[in-house]
Amino acid sequence: MIKIGLLGLGTVGSGVYSILEKHKENLKSKVGTELRIEKILVKDIDKKRDIDFDKALLTNNVEDILENPEIDLIVELIGGEEPAYQYIVQALKNGKAVVTANKLLIARYGQEIMGLAAEKGVSVSFEASVAGGIPIIRPLRESFAANKIERIYGILNGTTNYILTKMTEEGQDFQLALKEAQKLGYAESDPSSDISGTDAAYKIAILSSLAYETAIDIKDVHIEGIENIEIEDIELAKELGYLIKLLAISKFTPDGIDIRVHPAFIPEYHPLASVNDVYNAIYLYGDSVGDVMLYGQGAGQMPTASAVVADIIQASKEIYYGSPDINGHIYKNDHKVKDISQVHNSFYLRLQVKDKPGVLARIAEVLGRNQVSLASVIQKHRYAPVVPIVLVTHQVKEENLQKSIAEFKNLDEVIAINNIIRVEEL
Ligand code: NAP
Ligand code: HSE
Repeated sequence: MIKIGLLGLGTVGSGVYSILEKHKENLKSKVGTELRIEKILVKDIDKKRDIDFDKALLTNNVEDILENPEIDLIVELIGGEEPAYQYIVQALKNGKAVVTANKLLIARYGQEIMGLAAEKGVSVSFEASVAGGIPIIRPLRESFAANKIERIYGILNGTTNYILTKMTEEGQDFQLALKEAQKLGYAESDPSSDISGTDAAYKIAILSSLAYETAIDIKDVHIEGIENIEIEDIELAKELGYLIKLLAISKFTPDGIDIRVHPAFIPEYHPLASVNDVYNAIYLYGDSVGDVMLYGQGAGQMPTASAVVADIIQASKEIYYGSPDINGHIYKNDHKVKDISQVHNSFYLRLQVKDKPGVLARIAEVLGRNQVSLASVIQKHRYAPVVPIVLVTHQVKEENLQKSIAEFKNLDEVIAINNIIRVEEL
């Protein structure tokens, strides 16, 4: 029998508990022995919960789990940095295998946690930390192991994809769509992590670390969120043949890893453009396999619990048969991240300008001097004192675009810079 200590009985923890109960017999035959939840750590023992379970399992004293020598495996579903980090470290020190869905911890401390696990001869698994129910961690470690991964594009946050889909398809208000995503259990306890792009940044950092076997420091990832996306940008994107998605991008280039998270225009015909609602997708290119796209629900109780239970099954088998998977856990390379200022992209710019002769010429002069060339210019209204204009550039170096923006701010004719969004042709 494998005895499990569950840390957290919230959205994901309750889903994991339900699957382990519902599929008890099936899981026993898959693993070769029974999987039993021995204790469950929660913050508030008296809280009313939506699932049927044995209340005697609950504790709010973590020692009941971490210091119980009978518990083989802990499943961390508390989230956030502390106390989850301390609990995982203590569990590993005590020789317990760890399963977690915590992307923040793996992105920030993955190298250290995996090193400690290897030292102790136990496994750490984190399939649910990236893209909810989509298997991607194990495929990167195993199924794509024959490849040099050259690039990864991901829609990796369910909450923001849900919000952008509601805004695009129903013209829904941002705040209302966020409230719905929270009600559906997609959002983090602090949803600013979703909205700001940080959650997706943790995930692309984890994928890149595995793909290039190099520890990516989250501080090196350029991050922008969806806070400034307005219905007007979505409508203009459609007019130009694009959709707006919060895109996580990672490319292995000769002059460093180009890794970033930001809203992007993507062509409406690309497979990633049809990834809607809470669905996520990972579109990667490996030198042997070519293009591959993995698609599924990126957040929510049962899809995430499905990934956690898959890890529990694998870790339990390893414990039961005495062969923990500790190979390939440490990142061997030291590749550098490319600074965003050196990355090339096309850009969409939406400005408010005075409608008078010579304005476009002045804007074009600034762009030309900074080696930014234009692919298209659209002026939306006429005969008003101030009009919106939309510029789309050819591929330019980010620092040249930023110099132009700084100069626009000093032009009398430019009243406002409403938005700047990168255009990814993929
Ligand atoms: P959640 O609903 O907020 O549940 C957190 C659980 O942890 C609750 O049971 C809570 O206890 C317990 N807890 C919190 N702080 C604690 C403390 N200091 N000591 C003991 N117990 C504590 O969170 P969730 O949505 O299930 O997310 C859990 C993890 O899965 C996070 O790392 C998240 O990023 C990740 N994840 C979530 C999703 C998703 O769709 N929700 C998808 C993928 C990954 P009480 O019940 O007593 O409050
Ligand atoms: N809050 C996250 C999301 C949960 O919306 O994608 C899944 O990691």
